[in-house]
Amino acid sequence: MSENNQVNMEKIVSLCRRRGFIFPSSDIYGGLSSCWDYGPLGVELKRNVKDAWWKAMVHNRDDVVGLDCSILMHPDVWKASGHVDGFSDPLVDCMSCKMRWRADELKEQVCPSCGGKLSEPRQFNLMFKTFMGPVEESTNIVYLRPETAQGIFVNFENVVNTTRKKLPFGIAQTGKSFRNEITTGNFIFRSREFEQMEMEFFCMPGTDDEWLEYWRNERMNWYLKLGINPESLRFREHTKDELAHYAKGCYDIEFMFPMGWSELEGIANRCDFDLTQHARFSGKSLEYVNNESGEHIVPYVIEPSAGVDRSVLAFLCNAYCEEPDKDEMRTVLKLHPSLAPYKVAILPLSRKENLVKLAKEIHTSVRQQWITGYDDTQSIGRRYRRQDEIGTPYCVTVDFDSLEDKQVTVRERDSMKQIRIPISELVKTLSAKLCGEPFDVLPPGGRCL
Ligand code: GAP
Repeated sequence: MSENNQVNMEKIVSLCRRRGFIFPSSDIYGGLSSCWDYGPLGVELKRNVKDAWWKAMVHNRDDVVGLDCSILMHPDVWKASGHVDGFSDPLVDCMSCKMRWRADELKEQVCPSCGGKLSEPRQFNLMFKTFMGPVEESTNIVYLRPETAQGIFVNFENVVNTTRKKLPFGIAQTGKSFRNEITTGNFIFRSREFEQMEMEFFCMPGTDDEWLEYWRNERMNWYLKLGINPESLRFREHTKDELAHYAKGCYDIEFMFPMGWSELEGIANRCDFDLTQHARFSGKSLEYVNNESGEHIVPYVIEPSAGVDRSVLAFLCNAYCEEPDKDEMRTVLKLHPSLAPYKVAILPLSRKENLVKLAKEIHTSVRQQWITGYDDTQSIGRRYRRQDEIGTPYCVTVDFDSLEDKQVTVRERDSMKQIRIPISELVKTLSAKLCGEPFDVLPPGGRCL
């Protein structure tokens, strides 16, 4: 089903496990349903995704500031937001095999697992509950946040007062959210513990439609700039009856995952719902005062809300390729350089002492700039394959000639082309290539191989 017809979920799960991107949670105990651990390469990829988002949404703009709120919040937050009363999915049980399903996702009214009769739907609240302090009683119930957004709304006044931001402006946050989903699956696509990247953009009422349009385009362009194939992305506008209770309008950005088109991110017009509700429940005025006109207003909010794990999965699926290399097939992750866990790998041709010394020196200088791998095991061909499979854009081979001519071979992941360049030009050359300079543009003293 995917645009990239070489990829399926089994291949992605297998590569992630084999190469240390993603493991099942509590693996040695048999795993914990729908929970996942990011391994040494996965944690770098995930961090790069979040950094790219933060850079685009906060650092490269004057009108958005960041925040990092606690996961546990006052329980009234979730009453005001509507989550206590309304954040639920319709649950049905199979009378025969006892499997549970989301009624709104079933095509037929018989159990998809055994064909058995299903119970009447009942509303199941998706928030995880726990207790604050040592006594487990209802007055001590707190919830693990099901979205990061509410932490932003309840800090609206703090941010306005401390930053003196003028409308329109945004507050961004990334972090964990928890939902006790009835059905999970498709690897990290839907899990019970996941990460979100959310931004609440506060604007004057009446300008909200324009800002929705603006953010829709910004967010689509973010995925495109990071290399997602345009054919694998589309907008889907929510119909009136599927809009969340707080939203006036909403567009999903969908990606063609191996299981079909599915939501990657939602961009919603939340109007003044959240600030109005929190003002009502907290008794605090959350109005914005326009200094010039003295006007008091409750801003409208446009919210681009993306899933970190879903983005990671989309970037992995988009990057996955199998292609012929001599008599074999190679698996390559054609990740955008800014997302690749390692930008460069240093590969000494042998473990001979003088070669290792030079390779380590090169490694030390390159790793000042970028996360850099070092691999001196097995044949050079096998090592290139390993780096291809984890998406390393450039490999630097240090051979016996390097000791004499003070040059190294640089190999490009996607084209497998090689150039020979002076060690003294290496960092500058890699820097240019990682920023998009064509591979065959050579530094002084360089040549194509
Ligand atoms: N604040 C609005 C909000 O949370 P949402 O559509 O429920 O909206 C936003 O979630 C994004 O969070 C989704 O587009 C998706 O990328 C991610 N997300 C939501 N539930 C998820 C889950 N169970 N597992 C992984 N990601 C999830």
